[in-house]
Amino acid sequence: MFFDRLPGAGYVCAHRGARALAPENTMLAFELALELGADYWETDVHKAADGTLVVFHDDVLSRTSNIARQSEFAHRAPWPTWSFTLEELRRLDVGSWFVDEDPYGTIAAGSGDPALIKRMKGLSIPTLDQALAFSKQKSFPVNIEIKDQTQLPGDLSIVGDVLQAVHEHEAEDLVLISSFNHDYLAEMHRLAPRIPLAVLVEDTPPDNVVSYLRALGADTYHPDRNLIDAECVRALGKQGIRVAPWTVNDMAEALSLVEAGCFGIITDYTHVLRRLLTER
Ligand code: G3P
Ligand code: CA
Repeated sequence: MFFDRLPGAGYVCAHRGARALAPENTMLAFELALELGADYWETDVHKAADGTLVVFHDDVLSRTSNIARQSEFAHRAPWPTWSFTLEELRRLDVGSWFVDEDPYGTIAAGSGDPALIKRMKGLSIPTLDQALAFSKQKSFPVNIEIKDQTQLPGDLSIVGDVLQAVHEHEAEDLVLISSFNHDYLAEMHRLAPRIPLAVLVEDTPPDNVVSYLRALGADTYHPDRNLIDAECVRALGKQGIRVAPWTVNDMAEALSLVEAGCFGIITDYTHVLRRLLTER
């Protein structure tokens, strides 16, 4: 089980891979997360138009790909992720935007060596299969977030499809499944009660976090960082709830949340948090 590999607390979770140093949700970002000492990594899953599960964050393709510059796809703006087949998605470059925009300033700051920057250009969207194969090969635990697909008929089927992929890779003990769509979590618990679940919350926390999680078969809570504090983490910990807030990029905050007993810190700055925790 995922938590047998990570039995304690204070773990570094690489959000969408080593997202400050490489294009998010690419194999390069995942490889870098491992290299930089993340304890586990987080990634996002959508279903493509042909049913393939792909690793991508947004509901539309424009922010992190070159689709706006692809004339063949111009008529399909705003480019919903679900409306493209894997074959079409594979034609997109999901790496060059990171080099062009340098969203974290890490390239300008000199964190990316020229060889690494060269590898970023032309990267393609990975499938969940690729991500799970990587996790399995490296024994690198992964938090798979199932993105909400409620705009699609029969969207609940993504849950069984993710589970099937996990089974095919014999990765049951490497995965933690999360979602903002709690119906998906309930479905996963129905299909595979031993797969661990984390409840993602963005705005309004449940009135009673403990009973809410237990009703879903979950014992891990993934709140927006603004929804918790050290006292709350300690109180939940006493009741057996692991807490991993997102996205914690302020390192003083990250260290104090580790101190309070957070299971994981989901951060874009794997390399910085790892160093700080090692130096403590
Ligand atoms: O899983 C934590 C975090 O990834 C949730 O938000 O928008 O980054 O997927 P988002
Ligand atoms: Ca996510």
